Amino acid sequence: MGFSFHERVIGAAVEAGYLSEDRPLAAFVDPAGLSRTIRALNNAFPAHFEHMFAAKANTMSRALMLVKDAGLGCEVASPGELEQALRTGFAPEKVVFDEPAKTLPVLRKVLQLGVGLNIDNFQEFARVESLLKETRSTSCIGFRINPQVGAGTIDAMSTATPSSKFGVALEDEGNRQALVDCYTNNRWLTSLHIHVGSQGCSLDLLAAGIRKVTDLAEDINASIGKQQVEVIDIGGGLPVNFESDEITPTFAEYADTLREQAPELFSGKYLVKTEFGRSIYAKNGFIAARIEYTKSSGGRRIAISHAGAQVATRTVFMPDHWKIRLSVYDSSGRARAGNEVSQDVSGPLCFAGDMIGTDRVLPLIEPGDYVVLHDTGAYYFSNPFYYNALPAPAVYGAEILDDESVNFSLWRRHQNVDDMLAVLG
Ligand SMILES: Cc1ncc(COP(=O)(O)O)c(C=O)c1O
Repeated sequence: MGFSFHERVIGAAVEAGYLSEDRPLAAFVDPAGLSRTIRALNNAFPAHFEHMFAAKANTMSRALMLVKDAGLGCEVASPGELEQALRTGFAPEKVVFDEPAKTLPVLRKVLQLGVGLNIDNFQEFARVESLLKETRSTSCIGFRINPQVGAGTIDAMSTATPSSKFGVALEDEGNRQALVDCYTNNRWLTSLHIHVGSQGCSLDLLAAGIRKVTDLAEDINASIGKQQVEVIDIGGGLPVNFESDEITPTFAEYADTLREQAPELFSGKYLVKTEFGRSIYAKNGFIAARIEYTKSSGGRRIAISHAGAQVATRTVFMPDHWKIRLSVYDSSGRARAGNEVSQDVSGPLCFAGDMIGTDRVLPLIEPGDYVVLHDTGAYYFSNPFYYNALPAPAVYGAEILDDESVNFSLWRRHQNVDDMLAVLG
């Protein structure tokens, strides 16, 4: 039987010294897997859908470069993400800016550059309106709408609850008419934006929110008497399956749901933008962490690894919502088999909750083994957390060549102590 992708990569990384006693933690991205994911995305939706990768999911420049080269645009939600997207070479019109707390200087810059703009609220609208009196702009501009269709299974990721902090609450008294009036009086408002939530939202919930925004677009256009709203940005939020390698739901299933519930999006009447993040990168990256010690405490077996909240922040702080698969490899990269027992796997940070898995039935873990944190290509190693002054790990692109060897490319170098202390100030 052949070796798995993880076995090949860990084995080759150990040989190359990318995983070692000195480098007990590293992350790997699978560019070939990413290409397959983007192909599936493009095949699922018609050509008038423009996919803008949500940079927050993986803001590393090499990550953005690959999605840019594959023809995607970029959704950004802070001045830092905007700068990273522009430096990566995205054309301004292929970028859309979504920050909730946009300052006046940032709004001015976005408008001057011609970056797309999703307005969060009526106060921000007033700023944009006055800036457009002094600045000519080619930006595609519209409001973000909160359709208030309710929460998914993770409250902190649900952005379409009745009182969510994002966008204009569509059902609140007076807001629908106020939106119609804004569009009627301002011909530069040509788009509408919605993002129902991230992970934990069913396809039907996502579609229900999008249905309401599509209806709003139709109403605005009918009230104006011509098609002024030309763009509908439906956000991201396609959930990722963290329980196995199976990709479910697929982009094609989501497209089918939308085709049924919001057919106008498929008529070609609107340019439709999407903002997928997690579904693009999660399954195309993983973290490998060395096991330093194993012990037993109060009858509980614990393996102490080098991956904790610094790279798996959500998993550590909200383990019920962000459980990830763990698997174990020996020090040469071969998958461990047999003798499965319940074990806890901890991180290296100095607080009791720094656990990446509890009560996991895994082959008995030994010191010097590596544990793999699966499906962590989005929102994990790309967003490190500096508790206990632990450095961000190196990140490598890993490609299996025809002769079965692994070609590594350095995406981000290991943060040395000086780099890390400079970040801490
Ligand atoms: C406005 C917006 N668009 C897109 C996304 C990406 O969502 P996901 O990674 O779940 O696809 C987010 C995530 O928080 C978001 O806030």
